[in-house]
Amino acid sequence: MTAPPTEVSSSAAGGPRRALYDEPEEGLPPPPEPEPDPAEPPVSGQWLPKPDATRVIVVANQKGGVGKTTTAVNLAAALAAGNLSVLVVDLDPQGNASTALGIEHEPGTAGTYDVLMGEHTIAQDAQRSPEPGELWVLPSTVDLAGSEIELVNTPGRERRLALALDEFMESNEMDYIIIDCPPSLGLLTLNALVAARELLIPIQCEYYALEGVAQLINTINLVTGELNDNLVLSTVLLTMFDARTRLAGQIVDEVREYFPEQTLPVVIPRSVRISEAPSYGQTVLSYSPDSAGAKAYQNAAAEIARRGSKETL
Ligand SMILES: Nc1ncnc2c1ncn2[C@@H]1O[C@H](COP(=O)(O)OP(=O)(O)OP(=O)(O)O)[C@@H](O)[C@H]1O
Ligand SMILES: [Mg+2]
Repeated sequence: MTAPPTEVSSSAAGGPRRALYDEPEEGLPPPPEPEPDPAEPPVSGQWLPKPDATRVIVVANQKGGVGKTTTAVNLAAALAAGNLSVLVVDLDPQGNASTALGIEHEPGTAGTYDVLMGEHTIAQDAQRSPEPGELWVLPSTVDLAGSEIELVNTPGRERRLALALDEFMESNEMDYIIIDCPPSLGLLTLNALVAARELLIPIQCEYYALEGVAQLINTINLVTGELNDNLVLSTVLLTMFDARTRLAGQIVDEVREYFPEQTLPVVIPRSVRISEAPSYGQTVLSYSPDSAGAKAYQNAAAEIARRGSKETL
């Protein structure tokens, strides 16, 4: 498989350019629910190609609220709906991915914390999501918030998740393992970057969208140089696109220029259905299967599966 370069151009290291903020957003009424794009037929019910080996994808961006969790859970659900087996590792003490996938995660629930502490295996603590298909979740609880400090003096602290996943993959066949990271570049995110083969960066179509991406790329370059040579930036996904603003279009153009191979053609629209779904403990695919948001995530999953299977990454 030809991997895209994880070395990013010098303009990235020096800080990406920003789109001009030429259209004030204040005063805009809430966006109408976008119509599904007829140019992008739904892929619902379509069987997706199985990867040759488990694809371990980390969803990371240290900027908060850009759609990491929404992307992790809806992609996972779309892959599972495509008849693939998927494990979501919730690596954020907020536990949002666990909530969105219908998994209880009150304090004391066994999950990521116990695995990182070396007390449990992933197979012991993974729970099956009520969402359709082979969709499993390693839940997180607020206990995980203390783990960064608890692990600080532990040798090999950045490899705890990698070791646990290696052990899990020896006896469990999963097509995809998707890791949802917290909004920081701390030890939890580092564990995910060391454990994964692919990085997916969600980028919100907003002002400051690219701010922080340069820092993330620098971190990845450090990780690939020192801790995990296998990590590639495989996918960039634009989220919360509001077609009414020129700014959103500018961000899309800029990100595509910046990451021409990695940026998926499909863009996730800003959609009330997507934001409502977690409060029902559901993904948007279950909550509103015909919505534009559900179709966009299905198309993104199909493209990710297609690229991987055809080794075009
Ligand atoms: N396409 C979308 N349309 C509308 N709302 C969205 C969309 N994607 C995400 N949201 C909402 O935006 C908020 C932030 O999304 P999300 O929790 O996925 O981001 P995050 O990057 O995981 O955040 P954090 O950094 O806190 O982990 C949530 O309330 C979510 O429901
Ligand atoms: Mg999140």
